[in-house]
Amino acid sequence: MKPVNVGLLGLGTVGGGTVNVLRRNAHEITRRAGRGIRVSCAAARDRPRDCNVEGIRFSRDPYSVVDDPDVQIVVELIGGVELARELILRAIANGRHVVTANKALIARHGNELFAAARARGVMVAFEAAVAGGIPIIKAIREGLAGNRIEWLAGIINGTCNYMLSAMREEGREFDEALAEAQRLGYAEADPAFDVDGIDAAHKLTILASIAFGIPLQFDRLHVEGIRYITRTDVVYAEELGYRIKHLGFARATAQGIELRVHPTLIPHRRLIANVDGVMNAVLVNGDAVGPTLYYGAGAGAEPTASAVVADLVDVVRVLTSDPENRVPHLAFQPDALADTPILPMEAVETAYYLRLQALDQPGVLADVTRILGERGISIEAMVQKEPAEGQDDVSVILLTHRVREGQMNDAIQHIERLQSVTAPVTRIRVEGLGR
Ligand code: HSE
Repeated sequence: MKPVNVGLLGLGTVGGGTVNVLRRNAHEITRRAGRGIRVSCAAARDRPRDCNVEGIRFSRDPYSVVDDPDVQIVVELIGGVELARELILRAIANGRHVVTANKALIARHGNELFAAARARGVMVAFEAAVAGGIPIIKAIREGLAGNRIEWLAGIINGTCNYMLSAMREEGREFDEALAEAQRLGYAEADPAFDVDGIDAAHKLTILASIAFGIPLQFDRLHVEGIRYITRTDVVYAEELGYRIKHLGFARATAQGIELRVHPTLIPHRRLIANVDGVMNAVLVNGDAVGPTLYYGAGAGAEPTASAVVADLVDVVRVLTSDPENRVPHLAFQPDALADTPILPMEAVETAYYLRLQALDQPGVLADVTRILGERGISIEAMVQKEPAEGQDDVSVILLTHRVREGQMNDAIQHIERLQSVTAPVTRIRVEGLGR
Protein backbone atom coordinates (compact mmCIF):
# COMPACT_ATOMS: atom_id res chain seq x y z
CA MET A 1 0.00 0.00 0.00
CA LYS A 2 1.20 3.52 -0.78
CA PRO A 3 2.59 5.51 2.16
CA VAL A 4 0.47 8.25 3.71
CA ASN A 5 1.69 11.75 2.82
CA VAL A 6 2.23 14.24 5.60
CA GLY A 7 2.57 17.99 5.13
CA LEU A 8 4.62 19.60 7.86
CA LEU A 9 4.15 23.18 9.05
CA GLY A 10 7.29 24.23 10.92
CA LEU A 11 10.74 22.71 10.86
CA GLY A 12 12.05 24.00 14.17
CA THR A 13 13.02 21.86 17.14
CA VAL A 14 9.93 19.63 17.15
CA GLY A 15 9.50 19.63 13.35
CA GLY A 16 13.10 18.52 12.88
CA GLY A 17 12.67 15.88 15.61
CA THR A 18 9.53 14.58 13.89
CA VAL A 19 11.30 14.21 10.51
CA ASN A 20 14.20 12.42 12.19
CA VAL A 21 12.02 10.01 14.20
CA LEU A 22 9.85 9.19 11.18
CA ARG A 23 12.97 8.36 9.15
CA ARG A 24 14.85 6.46 11.83
CA ASN A 25 11.89 4.35 12.96
CA ALA A 26 10.19 4.03 9.57
CA HIS A 27 10.19 0.25 9.66
CA GLU A 28 8.67 -0.05 13.14
CA ILE A 29 6.18 2.71 12.42
CA THR A 30 4.98 1.00 9.23
CA ARG A 31 4.60 -2.30 11.10
CA ARG A 32 2.42 -0.53 13.65
CA ALA A 33 0.37 1.72 11.38
CA GLY A 34 -0.12 -0.75 8.55
CA ARG A 35 1.16 1.86 6.05
CA GLY A 36 4.29 3.92 5.67
CA ILE A 37 4.18 7.55 6.82
CA ARG A 38 6.34 10.02 4.95
CA VAL A 39 6.73 13.78 5.05
CA SER A 40 6.14 14.79 1.44
CA CYS A 41 6.31 18.57 1.89
CA ALA A 42 7.15 21.10 4.55
CA ALA A 43 6.94 24.83 5.06
CA ALA A 44 9.09 26.91 7.37
CA ARG A 45 10.52 30.41 7.55
CA ASP A 46 14.06 29.10 7.01
CA ARG A 47 15.65 25.96 5.65
CA PRO A 48 16.34 23.71 8.63
CA ARG A 49 19.87 22.82 9.69
CA ASP A 50 19.30 19.93 12.09
CA CYS A 51 17.31 17.47 10.02
CA ASN A 52 17.65 15.65 6.77
CA VAL A 53 15.06 17.11 4.38
CA GLU A 54 16.01 14.91 1.45
CA GLY A 55 12.92 13.97 -0.53
CA ILE A 56 10.77 16.65 1.18
CA ARG A 57 9.46 19.49 -0.98
CA PHE A 58 10.36 22.66 0.89
CA SER A 59 8.45 25.93 0.75
CA ARG A 60 8.25 29.18 2.70
CA ASP A 61 4.50 29.35 2.06
CA PRO A 62 2.49 27.36 4.67
CA TYR A 63 -0.66 27.57 2.52
CA SER A 64 1.10 25.51 -0.17
CA VAL A 65 1.20 22.66 2.39
CA VAL A 66 -2.42 22.83 3.59
CA ASP A 67 -3.64 23.17 -0.02
CA ASP A 68 -1.40 20.41 -1.42
CA PRO A 69 -3.76 17.85 -3.03
CA ASP A 70 -1.40 14.94 -2.20
CA VAL A 71 -1.21 15.63 1.53
CA GLN A 72 -3.49 13.54 3.74
CA ILE A 73 -2.36 14.71 7.18
CA VAL A 74 -1.18 18.19 8.11
CA VAL A 75 1.15 18.42 11.12
CA GLU A 76 1.15 21.90 12.66
CA LEU A 77 4.31 22.72 14.60
CA ILE A 78 4.65 26.45 14.02
CA GLY A 79 3.21 27.49 17.41
CA GLY A 80 1.46 30.81 18.00
CA VAL A 81 -2.27 31.16 17.75
CA GLU A 82 -3.73 33.19 14.88
CA LEU A 83 -1.83 31.87 11.85
CA ALA A 84 -1.91 28.31 13.22
CA ARG A 85 -5.69 28.56 13.70
CA GLU A 86 -6.21 29.85 10.17
CA LEU A 87 -4.02 27.13 8.67
CA ILE A 88 -5.67 24.33 10.63
CA LEU A 89 -9.19 25.51 9.79
CA ARG A 90 -8.17 25.59 6.14
CA ALA A 91 -6.61 22.12 6.34
CA ILE A 92 -9.85 20.83 7.90
CA ALA A 93 -11.95 22.55 5.24
CA ASN A 94 -9.73 20.82 2.67
CA GLY A 95 -10.58 17.47 4.31
CA ARG A 96 -7.12 16.92 5.81
CA HIS A 97 -6.56 15.27 9.18
CA VAL A 98 -4.51 17.38 11.54
CA VAL A 99 -1.88 16.65 14.19
CA THR A 100 -0.73 19.55 16.35
CA ALA A 101 1.51 20.18 19.34
CA ASN A 102 0.00 23.63 19.85
CA LYS A 103 -1.28 23.83 23.45
CA ALA A 104 -2.17 27.53 23.31
CA LEU A 105 -4.23 26.97 20.19
CA ILE A 106 -6.10 23.93 21.56
CA ALA A 107 -6.72 25.55 24.95
CA ARG A 108 -8.08 28.76 23.37
CA HIS A 109 -9.72 27.57 20.14
CA GLY A 110 -10.03 23.79 20.51
CA ASN A 111 -13.84 23.89 20.80
CA GLU A 112 -14.06 25.65 17.42
CA LEU A 113 -11.46 23.40 15.75
CA PHE A 114 -13.09 20.20 16.99
CA ALA A 115 -16.53 21.31 15.82
CA ALA A 116 -15.10 22.07 12.37
CA ALA A 117 -13.29 18.71 12.31
CA ARG A 118 -16.45 16.81 13.29
CA ALA A 119 -18.46 18.57 10.60
CA ARG A 120 -15.85 17.61 7.99
CA GLY A 121 -15.28 14.07 9.36
CA VAL A 122 -11.54 14.52 10.00
CA MET A 123 -9.37 14.07 13.06
CA VAL A 124 -7.49 16.67 15.08
CA ALA A 125 -4.94 14.95 17.33
CA PHE A 126 -2.96 16.83 19.98
CA GLU A 127 -1.08 14.41 22.25
CA ALA A 128 2.09 16.51 21.97
CA ALA A 129 0.31 19.58 23.34
CA VAL A 130 0.47 18.36 26.94
CA ALA A 131 3.55 17.11 28.76
CA GLY A 132 5.62 16.49 25.61
CA GLY A 133 6.45 12.82 25.32
CA ILE A 134 4.19 11.53 28.11
CA PRO A 135 1.14 9.89 26.51
CA ILE A 136 -1.17 11.55 29.04
CA ILE A 137 -4.01 12.41 26.66
CA LYS A 138 -4.24 8.80 25.57
CA ALA A 139 -3.95 7.57 29.16
CA ILE A 140 -6.84 9.70 30.41
CA ARG A 141 -9.00 9.58 27.31
CA GLU A 142 -8.69 5.88 26.68
CA GLY A 143 -6.77 4.07 29.41
CA LEU A 144 -8.85 5.52 32.27
CA ALA A 145 -12.16 5.58 30.38
CA GLY A 146 -13.77 3.33 32.98
CA ASN A 147 -13.18 5.80 35.82
CA ARG A 148 -14.76 8.89 37.23
CA ILE A 149 -11.71 11.15 37.49
CA GLU A 150 -11.73 12.77 40.92
CA TRP A 151 -8.72 15.04 40.56
CA LEU A 152 -5.46 15.43 38.73
CA ALA A 153 -2.28 17.29 39.54
CA GLY A 154 0.53 17.91 37.09
CA ILE A 155 4.04 19.26 36.93
CA ILE A 156 3.45 20.37 33.38
CA ASN A 157 5.94 23.15 32.85
CA GLY A 158 9.50 21.88 32.70
CA THR A 159 10.99 25.37 32.90
CA CYS A 160 9.33 26.15 36.25
CA ASN A 161 10.22 22.72 37.59
CA TYR A 162 13.81 23.12 36.46
CA MET A 163 14.01 26.51 38.14
CA LEU A 164 12.43 25.41 41.43
CA SER A 165 14.73 22.35 41.50
CA ALA A 166 17.78 24.53 40.87
CA MET A 167 16.70 26.93 43.65
CA ARG A 168 16.35 24.01 46.07
CA GLU A 169 19.29 21.84 45.09
CA GLU A 170 21.87 24.40 44.02
CA GLY A 171 20.78 27.55 45.82
CA ARG A 172 20.32 29.30 42.46
CA GLU A 173 18.60 32.64 42.10
CA PHE A 174 15.53 33.00 39.90
CA ASP A 175 17.20 34.83 36.97
CA GLU A 176 20.16 32.50 36.86
CA ALA A 177 17.91 29.42 36.77
CA LEU A 178 15.74 30.93 34.02
CA ALA A 179 18.74 31.78 31.84
CA GLU A 180 19.92 28.19 32.17
CA ALA A 181 16.48 26.78 31.21
CA GLN A 182 16.44 29.07 28.17
CA ARG A 183 19.94 28.01 27.17
CA LEU A 184 18.84 24.36 27.33
CA GLY A 185 15.90 25.15 25.03
CA TYR A 186 13.07 24.36 27.48
CA ALA A 187 11.58 27.82 27.84
CA GLU A 188 8.91 29.22 25.54
CA ALA A 189 9.88 31.92 23.02
CA ASP A 190 8.46 34.36 25.59
CA PRO A 191 9.58 32.90 28.94
CA ALA A 192 6.82 34.86 30.71
CA PHE A 193 4.56 32.07 29.40
CA ASP A 194 6.53 29.66 31.60
CA VAL A 195 7.25 31.65 34.75
CA ASP A 196 3.82 33.31 34.88
CA GLY A 197 2.02 29.98 34.55
CA ILE A 198 0.33 30.55 31.18
CA ASP A 199 1.92 27.54 29.48
CA ALA A 200 0.84 25.29 32.37
CA ALA A 201 -2.64 26.84 32.24
CA HIS A 202 -2.97 25.94 28.55
CA LYS A 203 -2.06 22.35 29.36
CA LEU A 204 -4.32 22.12 32.42
CA THR A 205 -7.26 23.45 30.39
CA ILE A 206 -6.83 20.51 28.03
CA LEU A 207 -6.32 17.92 30.76
CA ALA A 208 -9.38 19.07 32.69
CA SER A 209 -11.61 18.86 29.64
CA ILE A 210 -10.68 15.31 28.83
CA ALA A 211 -10.77 14.28 32.49
CA PHE A 212 -14.20 15.74 33.31
CA GLY A 213 -15.92 15.96 29.93
CA ILE A 214 -16.32 19.75 29.91
CA PRO A 215 -15.65 22.23 27.08
CA LEU A 216 -12.22 23.89 27.01
CA GLN A 217 -12.42 26.97 29.27
CA PHE A 218 -8.98 28.59 29.43
CA ASP A 219 -10.42 31.90 30.63
CA ARG A 220 -11.87 30.32 33.77
CA LEU A 221 -8.56 29.15 35.24
CA HIS A 222 -6.91 30.72 38.27
CA VAL A 223 -3.28 31.22 37.18
CA GLU A 224 -0.20 32.09 39.23
CA GLY A 225 3.44 31.74 38.24
CA ILE A 226 6.58 31.33 40.31
CA ARG A 227 7.99 34.86 40.35
CA TYR A 228 7.08 35.39 44.01
CA ILE A 229 8.75 32.19 45.23
CA THR A 230 11.99 32.96 47.01
CA ARG A 231 14.83 30.68 47.92
CA THR A 232 13.82 31.30 51.57
CA ASP A 233 10.38 29.77 50.99
CA VAL A 234 11.94 26.78 49.26
CA VAL A 235 14.20 26.19 52.30
CA TYR A 236 11.43 26.70 54.90
CA ALA A 237 9.11 24.37 53.01
CA GLU A 238 11.86 21.75 53.01
CA GLU A 239 12.31 22.11 56.78
CA LEU A 240 8.59 21.45 57.25
CA GLY A 241 8.74 18.30 55.10
CA TYR A 242 7.43 19.79 51.85
CA ARG A 243 8.66 20.64 48.35
CA ILE A 244 7.37 23.61 46.38
CA LYS A 245 6.19 22.58 42.92
CA HIS A 246 4.45 24.60 40.26
CA LEU A 247 1.31 22.54 39.86
CA GLY A 248 -1.68 22.45 37.57
CA PHE A 249 -4.54 21.16 39.70
CA ALA A 250 -8.10 20.20 38.75
CA ARG A 251 -10.67 18.64 41.05
CA ALA A 252 -14.32 17.74 40.67
CA THR A 253 -16.31 18.74 43.77
CA ALA A 254 -20.03 18.61 44.46
CA GLN A 255 -20.23 22.39 43.84
CA GLY A 256 -18.19 22.51 40.64
CA ILE A 257 -14.74 22.07 39.20
CA GLU A 258 -11.58 23.61 40.61
CA LEU A 259 -9.15 24.67 37.89
CA ARG A 260 -5.97 26.27 39.14
CA VAL A 261 -2.29 26.68 38.39
CA HIS A 262 -0.03 27.91 41.19
CA PRO A 263 3.01 27.05 43.31
CA THR A 264 2.04 24.34 45.78
CA LEU A 265 3.63 22.72 48.81
CA ILE A 266 3.54 18.93 48.46
CA PRO A 267 4.65 16.47 51.16
CA HIS A 268 8.16 15.42 50.13
CA ARG A 269 7.31 11.72 50.51
CA ARG A 270 4.96 11.85 47.51
CA LEU A 271 6.55 10.47 44.34
CA ILE A 272 5.49 13.55 42.39
CA ALA A 273 7.32 15.82 44.86
CA ASN A 274 10.53 14.09 43.75
CA VAL A 275 10.11 14.89 40.07
CA ASP A 276 13.01 17.26 39.51
CA GLY A 277 14.66 19.26 36.77
CA VAL A 278 12.90 19.65 33.48
CA MET A 279 10.88 16.44 33.80
CA ASN A 280 7.08 16.48 33.82
CA ALA A 281 4.67 14.27 35.74
CA VAL A 282 0.91 14.01 35.98
CA LEU A 283 -0.88 12.33 38.87
CA VAL A 284 -4.43 11.27 38.05
CA ASN A 285 -6.83 9.93 40.65
CA GLY A 286 -9.64 7.80 39.26
CA ASP A 287 -12.39 6.41 41.50
CA ALA A 288 -11.74 2.84 40.37
CA VAL A 289 -7.99 2.77 39.77
CA GLY A 290 -6.86 5.16 42.53
CA PRO A 291 -3.80 7.34 41.96
CA THR A 292 -1.78 6.75 38.78
CA LEU A 293 1.39 8.65 37.95
CA TYR A 294 2.78 9.40 34.50
CA TYR A 295 6.35 10.65 34.26
CA GLY A 296 8.68 11.65 31.44
CA ALA A 297 10.22 14.37 29.32
CA GLY A 298 7.81 17.24 28.86
CA ALA A 299 9.74 19.04 26.14
CA GLY A 300 12.59 18.62 23.67
CA ALA A 301 12.82 17.63 20.03
CA GLU A 302 12.45 13.86 20.08
CA PRO A 303 10.28 13.43 23.22
CA THR A 304 7.72 15.78 21.66
CA ALA A 305 8.19 14.12 18.26
CA SER A 306 7.41 10.81 19.98
CA ALA A 307 3.91 12.13 20.74
CA VAL A 308 3.47 13.69 17.27
CA VAL A 309 4.39 10.43 15.56
CA ALA A 310 2.10 8.42 17.86
CA ASP A 311 -0.76 10.70 16.77
CA LEU A 312 0.23 10.16 13.13
CA VAL A 313 0.05 6.41 13.67
CA ASP A 314 -3.39 6.78 15.29
CA VAL A 315 -4.65 8.87 12.39
CA VAL A 316 -3.32 6.40 9.82
CA ARG A 317 -4.93 3.49 11.66
CA VAL A 318 -8.36 5.13 11.53
CA LEU A 319 -8.12 6.72 8.10
CA THR A 320 -10.77 4.39 6.88
CA SER A 321 -12.96 4.15 9.97
CA ASP A 322 -16.29 5.85 10.37
CA PRO A 323 -15.91 9.36 11.91
CA GLU A 324 -18.74 8.62 14.37
CA ASN A 325 -16.73 5.79 15.85
CA ARG A 326 -13.45 7.60 16.43
CA VAL A 327 -12.18 8.49 19.89
CA PRO A 328 -13.87 11.85 20.68
CA HIS A 329 -11.51 14.86 20.89
CA LEU A 330 -12.40 15.63 24.50
CA ALA A 331 -12.86 11.97 25.49
CA PHE A 332 -16.63 12.31 26.00
CA GLN A 333 -19.17 12.33 23.17
CA PRO A 334 -19.57 15.94 21.95
CA ASP A 335 -23.27 16.06 22.85
CA ALA A 336 -22.48 14.66 26.32
CA LEU A 337 -20.13 17.43 27.47
CA ALA A 338 -21.28 18.76 30.84
CA ASP A 339 -21.90 22.38 31.83
CA THR A 340 -20.55 21.77 35.34
CA PRO A 341 -19.58 25.17 36.79
CA ILE A 342 -15.92 26.09 37.27
CA LEU A 343 -15.56 27.25 40.87
CA PRO A 344 -14.43 30.81 41.58
CA MET A 345 -11.11 30.78 43.43
CA GLU A 346 -12.74 32.16 46.62
CA ALA A 347 -14.75 28.94 46.90
CA VAL A 348 -11.73 26.63 46.57
CA GLU A 349 -10.61 24.87 49.72
CA THR A 350 -6.93 24.12 50.43
CA ALA A 351 -4.41 24.21 53.25
CA TYR A 352 -1.86 27.05 53.27
CA TYR A 353 1.76 27.87 53.97
CA LEU A 354 2.01 31.49 55.15
CA ARG A 355 5.24 33.42 55.67
CA LEU A 356 4.96 36.67 57.60
CA GLN A 357 7.65 39.23 58.32
CA ALA A 358 6.88 40.66 61.76
CA LEU A 359 8.54 42.72 64.50
CA ASP A 360 9.91 40.55 67.27
CA GLN A 361 7.71 41.95 70.07
CA PRO A 362 5.05 40.72 72.50
CA GLY A 363 1.52 40.13 71.23
CA VAL A 364 2.31 39.77 67.52
CA LEU A 365 1.63 36.07 67.30
CA ALA A 366 -1.46 36.48 69.50
CA ASP A 367 -2.85 39.03 66.99
CA VAL A 368 -2.13 36.75 64.06
CA THR A 369 -3.65 33.66 65.63
CA ARG A 370 -6.71 35.67 66.75
CA ILE A 371 -7.31 36.86 63.18
CA LEU A 372 -7.01 33.29 61.89
CA GLY A 373 -9.12 31.84 64.73
CA GLU A 374 -11.94 34.35 64.20
CA ARG A 375 -12.24 33.09 60.62
CA GLY A 376 -12.26 29.43 61.61
CA ILE A 377 -8.72 28.88 60.29
CA SER A 378 -6.94 26.21 62.25
CA ILE A 379 -3.13 26.22 62.52
CA GLU A 380 -1.30 22.95 61.90
CA ALA A 381 2.27 24.11 62.56
CA MET A 382 4.05 27.35 63.37
CA VAL A 383 7.77 28.20 63.34
CA GLN A 384 9.44 31.49 64.22
CA LYS A 385 12.90 32.07 62.73
CA GLU A 386 15.80 34.05 64.19
CA PRO A 387 16.02 37.60 62.78
CA ALA A 388 18.51 37.87 59.92
CA GLU A 389 21.80 39.66 60.68
CA GLY A 390 21.16 43.40 61.17
CA GLN A 391 17.34 43.11 60.94
CA ASP A 392 14.77 43.49 63.67
CA ASP A 393 11.93 41.62 62.03
CA VAL A 394 11.54 37.86 62.03
CA SER A 395 10.00 35.33 59.66
CA VAL A 396 7.01 33.44 61.03
CA ILE A 397 5.94 30.38 59.07
CA LEU A 398 2.46 28.96 59.53
CA LEU A 399 0.89 25.85 58.07
CA THR A 400 -2.90 25.85 58.26
CA HIS A 401 -5.56 23.20 57.87
CA ARG A 402 -7.88 23.40 54.88
CA VAL A 403 -9.97 26.54 54.56
CA ARG A 404 -11.87 28.35 51.82
CA GLU A 405 -9.72 30.77 49.86
CA GLY A 406 -12.21 33.61 50.53
CA GLN A 407 -11.71 33.23 54.30
CA MET A 408 -7.94 33.18 53.87
CA ASN A 409 -7.98 36.30 51.65
CA ASP A 410 -9.86 38.13 54.39
CA ALA A 411 -7.47 36.89 57.11
CA ILE A 412 -4.40 37.92 55.09
CA GLN A 413 -5.83 41.40 54.51
CA HIS A 414 -6.30 41.82 58.28
CA ILE A 415 -2.85 40.41 59.10
CA GLU A 416 -1.20 42.79 56.63
CA ARG A 417 -2.92 45.73 58.34
CA LEU A 418 -1.22 44.95 61.69
CA GLN A 419 1.42 47.58 62.59
CA SER A 420 3.80 44.82 63.59
CA VAL A 421 3.66 43.04 60.21
CA THR A 422 6.34 44.59 58.01
CA ALA A 423 5.82 43.06 54.55
CA PRO A 424 3.10 41.48 52.41
CA VAL A 425 2.30 37.93 53.49
CA THR A 426 3.63 35.16 51.22
CA ARG A 427 0.92 32.55 50.72
CA ILE A 428 1.54 29.20 49.03
CA ARG A 429 -1.24 26.62 48.83
CA VAL A 430 -0.63 23.11 50.19
CA GLU A 431 -2.01 19.90 48.68
CA GLY A 432 -1.52 16.50 50.34
CA LEU A 433 -2.20 14.62 47.07
CA GLY A 434 -3.15 11.52 49.00
CA ARG A 435 -6.03 9.42 47.88
N1 HSE B 1 8.13 25.67 27.83
C1 HSE B 1 7.54 24.40 28.00
C2 HSE B 1 8.06 23.81 29.32
C3 HSE B 1 7.91 23.51 26.84
O1 HSE B 1 8.97 24.40 29.91
O2 HSE B 1 7.54 22.82 29.75
C4 HSE B 1 7.01 22.37 26.63
O3 HSE B 1 5.67 22.71 26.49
